[in-house]
Amino acid sequence: MSFDAAVYQYSHLTVDHQRHQVDAALTAGRIATLGARYIPRLERRAAALLGRAEAIAVDSGSSGLVLALRGLGVRPGQEVIIPEVGWVSMGAAAAALGAGVRVAAVTETLTPTWEQIAPLITPATGAVILAHLRGRPAPDTPRIAAELSARGIPLVEDCAQAWGVTAAGRPAGAWGQAAVLSTNTYKIIATGEGGLVLADEPRMLGFMRAVAGDTRQPTPQAVWRGKSRMNELTAALALPQLDFLPTLLDSLRALQQHVISALATVEGITGLAPATAEDTSQSNGSLVGMWLPTATHAEQAANTLSRAGFGCWWPGPGDLHTAAAWPVQPEQPVVDVRRYLDVQIPWLPAGEHAAFAHQLAATLTAALKESPC
Ligand SMILES: Cc1ncc(COP(=O)(O)O)c(C=O)c1O
Repeated sequence: MSFDAAVYQYSHLTVDHQRHQVDAALTAGRIATLGARYIPRLERRAAALLGRAEAIAVDSGSSGLVLALRGLGVRPGQEVIIPEVGWVSMGAAAAALGAGVRVAAVTETLTPTWEQIAPLITPATGAVILAHLRGRPAPDTPRIAAELSARGIPLVEDCAQAWGVTAAGRPAGAWGQAAVLSTNTYKIIATGEGGLVLADEPRMLGFMRAVAGDTRQPTPQAVWRGKSRMNELTAALALPQLDFLPTLLDSLRALQQHVISALATVEGITGLAPATAEDTSQSNGSLVGMWLPTATHAEQAANTLSRAGFGCWWPGPGDLHTAAAWPVQPEQPVVDVRRYLDVQIPWLPAGEHAAFAHQLAATLTAALKESPC
C-alpha cells in the first residue's frame, strides 16, 4: 500500500492562504522589513507561543544564535558550551564572536543532562546552548536552567526543531535567557529560510534589534550593525502555518501514537521516543525516535525506509547535526549517536493511520532481519 496522501512538507497544507498573504503584500508594495505588517504580527505570535516578552524575526535560526550570544555579551576569551547533537551553527555562532566552544556529550535523549554540562563549566563560560531536538524537549531543562541561573550563566534554548514542544509544563524556549526558532525548509513551520530570536530583557532585545539591522533602534553607544532581519514575504509565509499549527500537531500526535504502538513490538528497537502518553503530549508529534543495536543496523534501516518512501533521519558520517562533523568533539561521549534513527510522521487522513503504522513496522522488521550484524 502506498500512502499518496502523506504530506511530509507540512508547509504545503496552507499554500492557498500563504499565496493570498504574499499577494496582499506585493499588491500593497509592502515587502521590506521597515513598515512591514506581517513581521510584527509574527513576532507577537511567536513571543506569545513561547511565553517570552518579545521575538525578533530574522533571516535564519543561525543568525538568531549569533544575535542571542551577542546580546548576552559573549566575547573573545569566553567559552560557550553546546550539545553534541544540534546543528553546526551553534558552535559557529560562538566562534564568530571569538569565543571557544566546549561540547557536552548527549544521553539517549539526544540532549545532555546537567551531569554532562557541569564538568565543562569554568570561570570562562559565557553561555550554554541547550537544543530541544527532534520535536521533543530536552528532559533535564528545568535542572539545567536552575543550576546555570544559580551560577549567573545564561542559557540559550535552541528551539529550531521545537515548534509546539513543551518542556516540563512550559513551552520549550521559556526557560533560558534567550530562545531561537528556525523556519528553514525542514522545520514544522517552513518558509525556505528564516528564524526568530526571543528574550525578555528589554536592553538585550533593543541591542539585538539594532545589530540585526533595525535602523530605527537606538543603542546607548555606537555599535557595529549587521543585517539579518526577516523580510515581509517570509513572514507572510509563516503566519498561516502558525495559525494551522494546533490542527497539524493534533493530527501528527494521533499518527505518532499509532506508530509508537506498532514499533513497540519490533525486535531490536529500544529507547522508543516519545515513550509515554505525557511525552507524546510534550512532543510536537513530528517524529518517532529509536535506538538500534548497532550503527550498521541504523544505516540499513534508514536506507530501507527511504527506499520504501518513508521520511527518516539517521545521523551518519558527515551529518552536520552531530559533533562528529564539527571541529570540536565531546570529551567523554555517553552514547554512539550513529545508532539513533527517527522516522518522520506525515500529515495523513486519520483513516490511514493504522495502515501506515503497520506498514512502517513491517518495513523496519524486514530491514532489521536483513541487517548483516
Ligand atoms: C537544532 C538546530 N539549530 C539551529 C539550526 C539553524 O537554523 P537555520 O537553518 O534556520 O539557520 C538548525 C537547522 O537545521 C537546527 O536544526
